[in-house]
Amino acid sequence: MNQESLVQKIKELKEARKAVILAHNYQRPEIQDIADFVGDSLGLSRQAAQTEAKVIVFCGVHFMAETAAILSPDKTVLLPDLNAGCPMAEMIEPEDLIELKKQHPKAPVVAYVNTTAKTKALSDICCTSANAVEIVNSLQEEEIIFIPDRYLGHYVSRFTTKKIHAWRGFCPTHALIYPEDIKKQKEIHPEAEVVVHPECLPEVVDLADKVASTTGIVNYAANSSAKEFIVGTEVGILHRLKKENPDKSFYPASEKAVCPNMKKITLEKLLITLEEQEPIVFVEERIRNQALKAIEKMLAIG
Ligand code: 13P
Ligand code: SF4
Repeated sequence: MNQESLVQKIKELKEARKAVILAHNYQRPEIQDIADFVGDSLGLSRQAAQTEAKVIVFCGVHFMAETAAILSPDKTVLLPDLNAGCPMAEMIEPEDLIELKKQHPKAPVVAYVNTTAKTKALSDICCTSANAVEIVNSLQEEEIIFIPDRYLGHYVSRFTTKKIHAWRGFCPTHALIYPEDIKKQKEIHPEAEVVVHPECLPEVVDLADKVASTTGIVNYAANSSAKEFIVGTEVGILHRLKKENPDKSFYPASEKAVCPNMKKITLEKLLITLEEQEPIVFVEERIRNQALKAIEKMLAIG
């Protein structure tokens, strides 16, 4: 089937199933183009919480679909490829967190949404890259356990007086962007502004004009008077940046920054998912209830 027919079939089935398609900013261009909503983790969580649709087809990675399932237990949440996981979310096990809590008994746990439902269930509050600083500073305690991203934890520590005990996880995709990449691009494009995601290495963050979540980067680029941007995050975001700002130029900091899991969702898999109404992402009730508290606390702030 050619792409045009695939798109047509997906649109028809989406209507028939009363489904909404949510896509992350790193998804393939054709997936972003067919989605009802494209956004960052925070925006997608909010959409999942608010949508009237009976079926949510999540084009992203597993923890994102799981978050939607936690927020909307009465809806069917579908993930077109169950193997689309986030390696960073797998870098901390519930047992590791239990041990960490024993080491810092007075510190509340702030869990980046890039965690499994089981880990969220053991956490006090969630955060995304869009609100991590705000969430940490909203807490009364002076010590915080921050999981699982050491680099986002490091970024937050720049904007708080609190002691951050960060877990050692990291994003293997963002870790491929080096300060040398930014410097090289800056030499080629001296007028360009440098925008990066806070999952990047601290040495990369040091070179940035703006550090933001994926949607934060999109909004910044739209509102900045600059005409050129060096983009330090997963390359999938360039589609949206170029589409929404045809008069501006965007250069990836590194072509190597590709998240293979985000690319696992294809139009073919999306069509099969709508046809068969699976794979369904389901979270066991006890875990769901506990994880929900941490997510709702986050959504209540800001
Ligand atoms: P955002 O919430 O900024 O979209 O980030 C999600 C993610 O997985 C980044 O690697
Ligand atoms: Fe996980 Fe990194 Fe992929 Fe985001 S880009 S989903 S953090 S592996």
